[in-house]
Amino acid sequence: DIGPMAGYLGGEVVFQGAFGAMEAAAKRKQNRSLTVRYLTGREAIEMPERVRKWNSYIEIKGAREHNLKNIDVKIPLGVMTCITGVSGSGKSSLVKSILYPALRRALTETGDRPGDFDGIEGDISRIKGVEMIDQNPIGRSLRSNPVTYIKAYDEIRKLFAEQQLAKQYKFDSSSFSFNIAGGRCEECKGEGVIRVEMQFMADVELVCEACNGRRFRDEILQVRYHDKSIYDVLEMSIDEAIDFFGGYAEQDKINLRIVEKLKTLQDVGLGYVKLGQSSSTLSGGESQRVKLASFLLKENSSQPLLFIFDEPTTGLHFHDIKKLLRSFEALMQKGHTVVVVEHNMDVVKCADWVIDLGPEGGEAGGGLLFAGTPRELAEAPAAVGSHTAHYLKEVIG
Ligand SMILES: Nc1ncnc2c1ncn2[C@@H]1O[C@H](COP(=O)(O)OP(=O)(O)OP(=O)(O)O)[C@@H](O)[C@H]1O
Ligand SMILES: [Mg+2]
Ligand SMILES: [Zn+2]
Repeated sequence: DIGPMAGYLGGEVVFQGAFGAMEAAAKRKQNRSLTVRYLTGREAIEMPERVRKWNSYIEIKGAREHNLKNIDVKIPLGVMTCITGVSGSGKSSLVKSILYPALRRALTETGDRPGDFDGIEGDISRIKGVEMIDQNPIGRSLRSNPVTYIKAYDEIRKLFAEQQLAKQYKFDSSSFSFNIAGGRCEECKGEGVIRVEMQFMADVELVCEACNGRRFRDEILQVRYHDKSIYDVLEMSIDEAIDFFGGYAEQDKINLRIVEKLKTLQDVGLGYVKLGQSSSTLSGGESQRVKLASFLLKENSSQPLLFIFDEPTTGLHFHDIKKLLRSFEALMQKGHTVVVVEHNMDVVKCADWVIDLGPEGGEAGGGLLFAGTPRELAEAPAAVGSHTAHYLKEVIG
């Protein structure tokens, strides 16, 4: 087990041995392995004590796309719904091919044509938009990174432009941008690396010789905020930057806004990512959480949205899943609706409503087996034919 945490807080072996040795390791005071803590039951993803009540919903009528068997499905609003079922049972067909495009068309009259179904009904006017938060990259440019995506970098640039030396040199906040000419290194266009195309082989990235990978001109790098250049800041992790800017928030009020924005990245479990880490290097799960953070930052709580996630726990540790669930919670507190396609029973048990498809994959699937609370599903009779019920019962007990 590698850790104890992610990024600069990780990188050590915190446990190694047979599964049976975990219990003894957990008893040791110096145990630092979160995996051991979860697997020995010392830490757990707790099931919420009660489910949220709902009364408004959106209904999909006669869904027949791919293997779906002409089913009617109600999606409750303002709460968290999990769509479950074995691989190939029809979850993505229902959510990605019908719910998402149908709702978009109903709300904005744009977007792709939905798959085969009869109609969408219910309290559609209660929501103002629909957002699919997938694992696709957030930007292909080497210059895009998590802090530019959530717009925290704009504030950081302003702060640097306010420093004495910057004023003396007549730099403004755009001088600290790597998207426009001025302050950035023109050799590498602010990317810090030069991409060399190789015939028959993957491109090679070489550190830019003009700036040594520091992405800005020397004069720009001479501007320092409490001894840190803009490059030093981009090399910090989100966690480090929160401590750094938070430490000077008394003198510089703008730091409060920087910290507030960075904290949403920390809240979704990305505290270990470097501010300047190129978006193209983020994993699918990391990209998904950056998108989620950007929505958590949007002030428009008067605009209830429906969020769709397709398997958001892919690649996440128990500990990360806990944080993800807290972000879902935050979305619902703002009045949003959360719809999650998920196989992970720790997430399913935390839903307010479960829609189980199946019983099998392909032609033997596509039926609506069950709709209700997780507890009701776990107690569903075997005749329902739900594999989810069986595994959910093991988790709920
Ligand atoms: N474009 C397509 N054309 C024909 N059949 C498809 C198409 N997309 C999916 N299917 C079939 O429809 C069925 C349901 O697929 P779907 O992707 O909805 O499953 P899923 O429940 O999301 O599975 P997973 O958990 O593996 O993501 C599968 O048998 C699949 O092979
Ligand atoms: Mg799927
Ligand atoms: Zn350069």
